[in-house]
Amino acid sequence: MSCGESKVVCVTGASGFIASWLVKLLLQRGYTVKATVRDPNDQKKTEHLLSFDGAKERLHLFKADLLEEGSFDPVVDGCEGAELIEPALKGTLNVLGSCVKVQSIKRVVITSSMAAVRFNGKPLTADVIINESWFSDPAFCEKEKLWYMLSKTLAEEAAWKFAKEKGIDIITINPGWVIGPPLQPTLNLTVELVLKLVNGTEKFPNDTYRFVDVRDVANAHILAFENPSASGRYCLVGSVKHRSESLFLTDVKMTSLSHQLTRHTPLEVSLKDTVESLKDKNFF
Ligand SMILES: NC(=O)c1ccc[n+]([C@@H]2O[C@H](COP(=O)([O-])OP(=O)(O)OC[C@H]3O[C@@H](n4cnc5c(N)ncnc54)[C@H](OP(=O)(O)O)[C@@H]3O)[C@@H](O)[C@H]2O)c1
Repeated sequence: MSCGESKVVCVTGASGFIASWLVKLLLQRGYTVKATVRDPNDQKKTEHLLSFDGAKERLHLFKADLLEEGSFDPVVDGCEGAELIEPALKGTLNVLGSCVKVQSIKRVVITSSMAAVRFNGKPLTADVIINESWFSDPAFCEKEKLWYMLSKTLAEEAAWKFAKEKGIDIITINPGWVIGPPLQPTLNLTVELVLKLVNGTEKFPNDTYRFVDVRDVANAHILAFENPSASGRYCLVGSVKHRSESLFLTDVKMTSLSHQLTRHTPLEVSLKDTVESLKDKNFF
């Protein structure tokens, strides 16, 4: 018997890159999934979800918008867990607000980001170890015009404050740059960048990236929900590479992380699977 048998969980933003894998793996483990999309009539957003094994019996699609207050009330009702994939500040508080209204929710797993961890102005030399105690500094993000980092940091800070005040159990998953084969027909930002680097429409920036495979990220959400002793924040990074070297797969010494995944999908496999999937979907 799989772990999730008879359990009901909610996944927000279900048609996205990470969420699609999460829905697939949850169904595989026997969960009943209440999945939200903004437009359930848009086949491009739903067709791949409905094709997953178990979807016919255990996947229920709901229309919900993160920015509409109360939009998630009927969705989280009866769920034991909620996995928030697209939590901008208002969306996070909106879904958490729905979660506190129902007795059934045991835990909420929020997809945050390394963007909410490492942008604090500290110099990142090779001896510096980043860990889950780090928080990006909103003032620094604002000064440097790092708007995505700012929004993820504010959203996560607000989530922890809300959870403390209302006494709900939340966990954040903080992935680095997520790559891997997309299940959805459209491309999210991070996979689109792999496509552009491979087909030469984008130049390699002089920067270091913290890669992690989408399947590892989806699994981490499930482990965080299922494991009673899980708590706090989880930084998810498989490999730290200079972007240009990531496609040639040469090891480089870079800032280390105390929580690089110990058993992660190797970067070679992630990149190969990403590129093969892009070829299969005729993106080249
Ligand atoms: N990809 C990465 O490298 C990475 C790394 C760290 C953290 N993250 C975080 O992980 C999450 C998902 O990333 P992703 O790469 O999987 O993104 P994605 O493929 O672009 O998916 C985002 C999803 O969010 C939904 N969404 C956007 N605005 C919404 C709204 N107002 N109401 C309801 N749903 C809304 C979209 O749903 P509809 O289809 O219904 O429009 C879409 O399916 C984000 O929170 C991102 O910040 C991503």
